[in-house]
Amino acid sequence: MNTRLSVNINKIALIRNARGSNFPNLVQFAKDCEAFGAEGITVHPRPDERHITYADVPALKQVVQTEFNIEGNPTEKKFMELVLQNKPHQCTLVPDSKHALTSDSGWDTIKHKDFLTDTIAQLQEAGIRVSIFCDPAAKFIEGAKIVGTDRIEFYTGPFAKDFDKDAQAAVQPYADAAKVASELGIGINAGHDLNLHNLRFFKDQVPNLLEVSIGHALVVDALYYGIQNTIQMYLHRLTEL
Ligand code: PXP
Repeated sequence: MNTRLSVNINKIALIRNARGSNFPNLVQFAKDCEAFGAEGITVHPRPDERHITYADVPALKQVVQTEFNIEGNPTEKKFMELVLQNKPHQCTLVPDSKHALTSDSGWDTIKHKDFLTDTIAQLQEAGIRVSIFCDPAAKFIEGAKIVGTDRIEFYTGPFAKDFDKDAQAAVQPYADAAKVASELGIGINAGHDLNLHNLRFFKDQVPNLLEVSIGHALVVDALYYGIQNTIQMYLHRLTEL
């Protein structure tokens, strides 16, 4: 199965914002990532706009040719307005708190059933595919089915953290949860702390992986290898036999 590589460009926006100008140019960077082989562009605007700003989104929407994925917390009214106005190919709903350094857990799809059901329906009615950030537990995947999402995105932070200790033990919950998702007809994405070292193993062990979104490690690798080489290296990890 082909697993798409969506490049998360938050960190590029962070570098740009450090100087308050338009350098590096985020829109050009997104276009270049696609020219170098990226199969999607992901952004995660946060309320404080510390990396991606709300104004970046329409500018990116105009140029992204592959798949545009906007992640964020739908409890923010501004986020929902932004997504509905810009209609990306995919919206990934993430239950991150306002001041979280980064996303650090999936949805409790049972507790937030009504909210997720309404939100997902609203996005789908606008023609947007929905993915929800999920921990690899059967009960949350079953809950994801009930709320009507098209896909889940596995939160892979815990996998990455334990990968060097015991890779098989680290991946097993994801492999098991992926089977549940596939049986329920839910598509599977994954993201967080995936890198050149752990990506291939994750893909091999987790069936039906449709898409990974990768930002932090990919941008750090690009400091050493350059962005064109780095994207090719990640694509190679996803395709090598
Ligand atoms: N998925 C979600 C929901 C995220 O919040 C992030 C980080 O912004 C990622 C994937 C990508 O994680 P990383 O930057 O560690 O590759």
